[in-house]
Amino acid sequence: MLELRNITAGYDTGTVLRDVTLTVPDNATVALLGPNGAGKTTLLRVASGMIKPYSGQILIDGVDVTGDPAFKISRKGIIHVPEGRGIFPSLSVTDNILLQCPPGDFKKGFKTATTTFPRLGERARQIARTMSGGEQQMLALSHAYVSNPHVVLLDEVSMGLAPKIVEEIFEYLTDLGKQGVAQLLVEQYVGQALKMADYVYILDRGRISFAGEPGEISEETIMNSYLGSLAS
Ligand SMILES: Nc1ncnc2c1ncn2[C@@H]1O[C@H](COP(=O)(O)OP(=O)(O)OP(=O)(O)O)[C@@H](O)[C@H]1O
Ligand SMILES: [Mg+2]
Repeated sequence: MLELRNITAGYDTGTVLRDVTLTVPDNATVALLGPNGAGKTTLLRVASGMIKPYSGQILIDGVDVTGDPAFKISRKGIIHVPEGRGIFPSLSVTDNILLQCPPGDFKKGFKTATTTFPRLGERARQIARTMSGGEQQMLALSHAYVSNPHVVLLDEVSMGLAPKIVEEIFEYLTDLGKQGVAQLLVEQYVGQALKMADYVYILDRGRISFAGEPGEISEETIMNSYLGSLAS
């Protein structure tokens, strides 16, 4: 279980998250929604140790990991698939997969990646940047399959992809959920995210404005959160 407790965080440009509390239980899919600039990416960065919060705690299975560097948090099974793909564009598909695998686990990881995404096997020697957008996103997602994660943090993995590929990506995420991997899902396709999610949080200007189950959320709440923020 991943817990963020009373997190306040930001950048040298100012505070972004204020007193944010959020839990990703084992085996659960949690959707994190909210308008542009609300702080969703910042929250995932805090959760994976990429930035340190000003205050508050991050706990993995009850153990406080606040302030631990990102590589330590990823070894504890928190895998971040960042906004904008998070692959090494000038390296081959194989080398990217190699870097995603836990040390000493390349053979097994490569097999898992290429069985899950046969396209990656067919294109093993291709330089990542020359692959299509959908293929690159599959390469980014393979990180979540090869590293035996506890929780995957997914930042708009559907961004910029054709609708058919988006559907395919959601099928992979559903499959990952069925394998028991917990997910914290930031997604612009609100309907899809709500369909998959066990719990939903809405972030509005750095604060949680709704936390609950998808069935409890009305379309009006969502509209108000997205449009209210545009109007201000
Ligand atoms: N590296 C950074 N340095 C300074 N400010 C940043 C940085 N990254 C984000 N911000 C600022 O923090 C605020 C929240 O940004 P964040 O990227 O977390 O929002 P978001 O909810 O992910 O938005 P989007 O839906 O557009 O991806 C914004 O005002 C943004 O300008
Ligand atoms: Mg973002």
